[in-house]
Amino acid sequence: MKNNVIAAISGVALMISGQVIAADIEAGKSKAAEVCASCHGADGNTSTAPNFPLIGGQHRTYLAKALKDYKSGERKNPVMAGMAAALSDEDIENLAYYFSSQSGKLTTKR
Ligand code: HEC
Repeated sequence: MKNNVIAAISGVALMISGQVIAADIEAGKSKAAEVCASCHGADGNTSTAPNFPLIGGQHRTYLAKALKDYKSGERKNPVMAGMAAALSDEDIENLAYYFSSQSGKLTTKR
């Protein structure tokens, strides 16, 4: 009985915290297709030019930080500054979640 109560409480706690922190991967996917795919590829791995970095499978927090830094001007790049300026914090979290969930081609070996 006691275990059931604990399980029920932790289940509810998980649901609540899940809803609060959950980024929306589907929203990230459609935003990516709409805005980012032309340069980085739909999955972040089919960059269309050598100066467009691969972002598929990159760490979620890294991607979110990069986008926030472009937006704030902390990281300077005219192309990405324009892209990031149009993104809300929610868009950034969703995009970071989506691209980080893709399998990555990033490697240190060449
Ligand atoms: C017109 C082409 C273009 C589009 C569209 C574009 N990007 Fe970029 N992106 C670039 C270029 C070029 C860089 C490299 C900038 C630099 O040197 O800092 C870059 C860099 C990045 C980086 C940093 C990668 C790293 O390894 O540090 C992230 C993250 C990123 N883009 C995400 C996005 C997202 C998300 C979108 C869609 C909202 C997007 N980009 C749309 C061209 C583009």
